[in-house]
Amino acid sequence: MILSNNLNKILIIDFGSQFTQLIARRIREIGIFSEIISHKKAKNIKLFNKEIKGIILSGGPLNVYDSNKFKFNKKILNLNIPILGICFGHQIICKVLGGKVKKSKYREFGSAIVKKENKSVLVEKFFSKNQTNNVWMSHADQVSKLPKNFNVVASTKNSKYTIIENKKKNFFGVQFHPEVTHTNKGKILLKNFVIKICKAKRNWSSKHQKIKLINDVRKQVGTKKVICALSGGVDSSVVAQLLSKAIGKNLTCIFVNTGLLRKNEEKQVINTFKNKLKINLIYVNAENEFIRKLKNISDPEKKRKIIGNLFIKIFERYANKIKKVRFLAQGTLYPDLIESKSVTGSQTSKIKSHHNVGGLPKKMKLELVEPLKFLFKDEVRKLGLELNLSKDIIFRHPFPGPGLAIRIPGLITSQKINILKEADFYFINELKKNNLYKKIWQAYAALLPVKTVGVMGDNRTYEHICLLRAITSEDGMTADFFNFKKDFMQKISNKIINNIKGINRVVYDITSKPPSTIELE
Ligand code: XMP
Repeated sequence: MILSNNLNKILIIDFGSQFTQLIARRIREIGIFSEIISHKKAKNIKLFNKEIKGIILSGGPLNVYDSNKFKFNKKILNLNIPILGICFGHQIICKVLGGKVKKSKYREFGSAIVKKENKSVLVEKFFSKNQTNNVWMSHADQVSKLPKNFNVVASTKNSKYTIIENKKKNFFGVQFHPEVTHTNKGKILLKNFVIKICKAKRNWSSKHQKIKLINDVRKQVGTKKVICALSGGVDSSVVAQLLSKAIGKNLTCIFVNTGLLRKNEEKQVINTFKNKLKINLIYVNAENEFIRKLKNISDPEKKRKIIGNLFIKIFERYANKIKKVRFLAQGTLYPDLIESKSVTGSQTSKIKSHHNVGGLPKKMKLELVEPLKFLFKDEVRKLGLELNLSKDIIFRHPFPGPGLAIRIPGLITSQKINILKEADFYFINELKKNNLYKKIWQAYAALLPVKTVGVMGDNRTYEHICLLRAITSEDGMTADFFNFKKDFMQKISNKIINNIKGINRVVYDITSKPPSTIELE
């Protein structure tokens, strides 16, 4: 699937590397639109239109001689478009053009020193004065014979052909990963490729995106009406504001208060979107309905399903009241669309049924407006700032669709929700006061379904345990717990216990993901 045909871009053909998304992000950081397609889809030669200024072949877990396991469209070698192969991509270029690849004597994983052998535009300003650079490797195979008309640009102790070029054809290969931050000046090498070699024009900034996306939405929607499920999170907030700029009053946002939101969240959403930004907003207070449906439910998956289904039902109930709606706007992001997450096509096992406002509601047969579908999260944040959304909204920690329900393991009651809202409020405020909020990817309080004995003012207490979780992460797929200083932990523990009735013990979750997940359920 090609997402956009009318932008000068760099096409990344993905062979299943865990870093492919990083390549796309680096190119976009340079200011050029980049798009990822799976190697399986790259067989359609029509895809290679004149807007493609350069092609990058990603790394991957396979061996170039396992040619039945991956597809390589040789026709891309005749398009007169510069090509850069990274790791596996580098080996493919060599193999298909007549070189040889073999198992390395020494596998190289991690840092390696690469030494310049010859000049190349690709490595301008890449090497330090002593003609070396520190790069990041992750390979077991290596090129053992160069194809015709290729030169060595740089080598490591273990692999002679670490950077190679065919100057006439503008084909390049690097055995290491310039896209990871562990490779010193990796971005300079990528910049040399896209700007100096591919001659791609800088066309990708939040300002450009804002104008383009507003125009695209206007073209798609015309004078028709659009509804949008607003959660108050970054993605739906940016979608709402973008659409409001594009189509004004033809947009209606529906905000469902499930009663499982953070303290004061509904007030903030109404204040921002209805009062300040003057967006048509339907506020639905469905607290009681959610609590009723969740009564006696303690199974995590049942909770998630009940909340997801009820959310859709309520959303539909209100959406149906708006006349002549043709479109549904959603905050789908680029990582959700990238198809080739696994080269072997294996399915990862289902851990949790995620619920969010995306994917709503199929029965209504509305057409989708997904203006953020080309963007990564950090780009969405920048776009949000460009659209004048407040930093509080833009840099807010992620919050799950099922809300506090999955932070109260076991049975959910209004009383527990209220205790938890307070505890979370104290924790998050304390993080902000101590300048820790921005250093942490996600933090929250949870209420454990066990009571323990405590002593307060010489009296016995028998109350709940509050669990605090704070993690650092890139994308929520993996996470590490945050290392607080003892002083901070002492302060927050005292604050919670002294101020919130119903909690007499505070614990801190020191597991990473994996083996745990970020949320408790
Ligand atoms: P887990 O618990 O799966 O969480 O490690 C990873 C990230 O996803 C968020 N999360 C959700 N987000 N709907 C969402 O929109 C959901 O149902 C959902 N469940 C978890 C979680 O907060 C973390 O950021």
